[in-house]
Amino acid sequence: MDEKQDQSRNRYHWYPGHMTKAVRMMQEDIKLVDLIIELVDARIPLSSRNPDIDRLGTGKARVVLLNKSDLADPEYNKQWGLFFQEQGAYALEVNARSGQGVKAVSGLVQQACREKRERDRKRGIVNRPVRAMVAGIPNVGKSTFINSFAGKACTKTGNKPGVTKGKQWIRLNKELELLDTPGILWPKFEDDNVGRNLAFIGSMNDEVIFLEELAYDLLTVLGGLYPEAVRERYQIERCDAPGETLEAIAQSRGCLTKGAAADRKKAAAILLDDFRSGRLGRITLERP
Ligand code: G4P
Repeated sequence: MDEKQDQSRNRYHWYPGHMTKAVRMMQEDIKLVDLIIELVDARIPLSSRNPDIDRLGTGKARVVLLNKSDLADPEYNKQWGLFFQEQGAYALEVNARSGQGVKAVSGLVQQACREKRERDRKRGIVNRPVRAMVAGIPNVGKSTFINSFAGKACTKTGNKPGVTKGKQWIRLNKELELLDTPGILWPKFEDDNVGRNLAFIGSMNDEVIFLEELAYDLLTVLGGLYPEAVRERYQIERCDAPGETLEAIAQSRGCLTKGAAADRKKAAAILLDDFRSGRLGRITLERP
């Protein structure tokens, strides 16, 4: 196999060394909570999960939040919500950035913990708040969500002087406490599709991938799922041959090299940026 082929085969694989530590910390933190609030990216709800969470979180209640739902197709937000509910999780669409849907999370958490509260009550444990943690892959919106969910009205507990190594808990109300640092999960690069989907949404370091090839791959997917969005955005006639489409985007956007040829690299950067920021419209790349 020549070098180019080899690079191409591995182009979406990337695993930074510090992740092993992050996963270990996550395992420790899970022991402290009753419930895991798992964030996934609504545009790629499967690729943006790590299935290990099912094993790590055995016996814990689970809420799945389809975050960045503002960037995803509303029709598929609904379908994915139902999909996760059928899998036994409590699911909700949210937009952590604007706060939309975030208020409803408390209620969902209480529903998800109802059985546990009932068990506690029978054992004489009352008034103990549910303890939860937020988890998800990098860039899915964990910090944004914690800020939005906790707001300003919360008080921090733990880590008081004299209480060393204590965890910081954010008390949201008398029924719910949230660990203030999220658990970081790493996506599963089991097949190239997962890595590719993560690269599309910008969850991988763009420096380690080839933008032009990525744009080509994105156009292949969009040509099948949302050709209209591409045609409309760039005022081009066809979206069925990625190479030609990328050229057409370059022409339409005036991206030309010195020799007046289409600058595909620039066109690729524009396409990816438009997709990631929602300027191509609300797009979901995975189907339940
Ligand atoms: P993380 O902790 O999981 O790593 O993710 P973080 O909260 O840092 O969010 C990553 C990026 O995703 C941020 O954008 C954040 O604003 C954005 N984001 C989070 N939730 C949503 C959402 O529901 N919808 C949309 N559209 N974006 C969301 P950024 O460009 O890195 O930062 P900034 O420009 O917002 O400051």
